[in-house]
Amino acid sequence: MEKKESNAMIIDKKTEDDGVIMMSIKSGEEASSPNKESEDSSVQKHVTILAIESSCDETAAAVVRDGREVLSNIISSQIALHTVYGGVVPEIASRKHVEKVNYCVREALSQADLKLEDIDAIAVTYGPGLVGALLVGVSEAKALSFATGIPLVGVHHIEGHISANYIENKDLEPPFVCLVVSGGHSHLVVVKDYGEYEIIGQTRDDAAGEAFDKVARAIGLGYPGGPKIDKAAREGNPDAISFPAAKIADAEYDFSFSGLKSAVLNYINIQRMQGDDFNKNDLAASFQKAVVDVLTEHAIRACKEYGYDKLAIAGGVASNTALRTSLENACKENKIKFYRPSPVLCTDNAAMIGAAGYYEYMKGVRADLTLNAVPNLPLGDRERRFHGRQSM
Ligand code: KG4
Ligand code: ZN
Repeated sequence: MEKKESNAMIIDKKTEDDGVIMMSIKSGEEASSPNKESEDSSVQKHVTILAIESSCDETAAAVVRDGREVLSNIISSQIALHTVYGGVVPEIASRKHVEKVNYCVREALSQADLKLEDIDAIAVTYGPGLVGALLVGVSEAKALSFATGIPLVGVHHIEGHISANYIENKDLEPPFVCLVVSGGHSHLVVVKDYGEYEIIGQTRDDAAGEAFDKVARAIGLGYPGGPKIDKAAREGNPDAISFPAAKIADAEYDFSFSGLKSAVLNYINIQRMQGDDFNKNDLAASFQKAVVDVLTEHAIRACKEYGYDKLAIAGGVASNTALRTSLENACKENKIKFYRPSPVLCTDNAAMIGAAGYYEYMKGVRADLTLNAVPNLPLGDRERRFHGRQSM
């Protein structure tokens, strides 16, 4: 097994015969007290959540204690299987989830040194995402809940991404502003309280991650585009090509990435028609700068105008090096405290679902066996949370 350190995280990585990469992620910090409950009843009881995530091309399971302490975090990544097709193939993703989900759950429990009877609730992503992929995690969680009587909690995938910030930042509490930038979402959100979100801006067309993926494909970097553009941009000049800003004139917090993407495609076509070559690294850096500038500008303006001095970031694009540096600098200049998860907690994982699931569980949110996958589940809609039953 290959061992890699990323910020405060230690990642054990192994490629299986079918091309799937199995990862076990541990915090670099010393693991804290034993996992079992204390015999002393005066000590506050911990809440231990088993979390499952399968909304796209990662099958993941994790055990999280009290919303912030990750006891185990297992990710089975299918990226290599989809790379040959240039994007995620939903049928392949669902089939692989079915093959891997039991293993991930068993491994998460075993690495946490716990059994199912030690678990207080099972949290599962039920949307948004690919319907067939979501259904695998939801079915697994429902089956475990039915067989054991352990309460079930449905979690919104993006609320999970936002909650990834709680894991390494024990001091972070709402309210704060969060910039959510993933493969399917680009939102500026005020996190008013745990599980309470006000969307103040969003993309009018493509998501930020989608723009990274499409531009990467156009310049032949392949899938997934975000990390590849990130890497190429480090060798390029961000001021080499001037691309339009990814914003909308009459909406100060909204984004629009399709105009930028078209400008990049036009640039490539014109260069090719003229028989000119172009520098891929310069193009990657210039495109990335156009995205990063607008994300930074909107996020900082939101903090200042809404009066918050804490900014968090979430989603796969939040692992982008240039975005992290730009926001870090802008936050310093504007006296805003900046929070960002380690890159491996920015992309899809189940630890973040365990963190979000904990706060839902503590609010009394429960799902029953009618819980279903909802591919276009809206963010922050409280009506949807109680699936037939509300205990507590
Ligand atoms: O959050 P995520 O793992 O899955 C969704 O919920 O969508 O985000 C995946 C997206 C992909 O579009 C990927 O290209 C992008 O995040 N991404 C990045 C980076 N790493 C992943 N984009 C820019 N820079 C990165 N380093
Ligand atoms: Zn995601």
